[in-house]
Amino acid sequence: MSDLERPRIVNPEMDELRFDDDSEVFRRLLTPEIICNFRASQVPFSRIPDGFILDPAAGSGGQLAAYGEKLRRDCVGVELSPQRAVHCANSLTRLGHDSATLAICGDGLDSEGVMALVRKKIGDVKVAMLHVDPARPLDAQNHSISEMEPPLRPLLEAWSNYLEVGEFGVSLLLDLSPRLASKQQIEVEAIVRELFPDVNVMWEWLSRGGGRVDRLTIHTGGLAQEDGEVRCIRLHRDGSFDVLSGRMGVNDIEWLNIDPTVGEILALIDPVVIRSGLRVAYEIGAGQEGEIKWVHDSDRRPMAILNEELQGDCTSRAFTSIHGRVEERIEGSLNLMMIDSLAASAMRYGLSGVQIRCACDPKMHTKIVNRLDLILGDTEGERGFLVDAPDGNSLFLCKKIP
Ligand SMILES: C[S@@+](CC[C@H](N)C(=O)[O-])C[C@H]1O[C@@H](n2cnc3c(N)ncnc32)[C@H](O)[C@@H]1O
Repeated sequence: MSDLERPRIVNPEMDELRFDDDSEVFRRLLTPEIICNFRASQVPFSRIPDGFILDPAAGSGGQLAAYGEKLRRDCVGVELSPQRAVHCANSLTRLGHDSATLAICGDGLDSEGVMALVRKKIGDVKVAMLHVDPARPLDAQNHSISEMEPPLRPLLEAWSNYLEVGEFGVSLLLDLSPRLASKQQIEVEAIVRELFPDVNVMWEWLSRGGGRVDRLTIHTGGLAQEDGEVRCIRLHRDGSFDVLSGRMGVNDIEWLNIDPTVGEILALIDPVVIRSGLRVAYEIGAGQEGEIKWVHDSDRRPMAILNEELQGDCTSRAFTSIHGRVEERIEGSLNLMMIDSLAASAMRYGLSGVQIRCACDPKMHTKIVNRLDLILGDTEGERGFLVDAPDGNSLFLCKKIP
């Protein structure tokens, strides 16, 4: 191994390499601050063994710094890219407490080289918790686990002897791609269970309410309360969150091939509920177990017919993008020509605004919204929304339940 390939400690003050904050690739890799803080707030401190927190693919170091700030533990970040390693070193300097921090430029798979530096700078300590957010192909809709960088199995194998086994086993948080298909999820879990037999494993799907799964993580040991537990998190803009939890289902939703009818309550459900298999937890949270009809299995806008309105304080409300009573079925798909008659319908039902929640060409979307606003702008009334019927050939105009 040449000197250049050996891991080296990065000093943010002395390092000649400046990071390029504006790089698009770099920004797309960053974990949003709100998620870093949420994760750090969720680590059950008392369940994590002694030792340091390791991020062997640390990127900007934002997540590592959030853990360090919250847990007041020593932190070690390893990053292959020299520019990002400097960024990581900078992030860690914001930790003002007495704990040691180390930003290392090198290969996160080189556990021996990294540990040699850790021993020199921090002492003879082990890893209390390993967090990894591997890089993956940016634009692929699906990808295989072998495309993760660093690759998961060699990474976990390289570190397995340096992980502290606490009362609850090794504590890992693997930040996986939300695009990972169920087959790959099973592969990841099999690797974890093979390398760390008997450890508790928990899966978590996180949504920020934009109609998609934002993060998919697997937690083990002290980070997982119960083996086989599944959680859905709806993280709100102010950092508060709602939780739905249950046990891993086997995609037990029976999708009915029926359409809602006028007067029924139609709901668009957060996709995390479907992807995590927490249908029953959603129904219980809504106070309507066994009474909800699941009618449209869609990636962005799964749809259900509820038995009754969701109460303001029920857990499932946070996992419902929107719900309302069906007022009218409109034939055809959304286009500019139908706006006048749509606005006339909206006025007939006392709606002063209609949110477009159906498929719509993005170029047309603004025109349609502006035109509707122009017509309905002066009216007073309740809010409505428009969704696609499951067959895609018609629309439902609904009155939103506030
Ligand atoms: C998804 S990013 C991590 C982003 C990080 N969570 C953040 O918020 O900045 C993955 C990082 O792993 C780095 N990486 C890939 N292979 C690596 C390896 N073998 N060793 C260390 N870092 C690696 C990439 O350079 C990239 O910065």
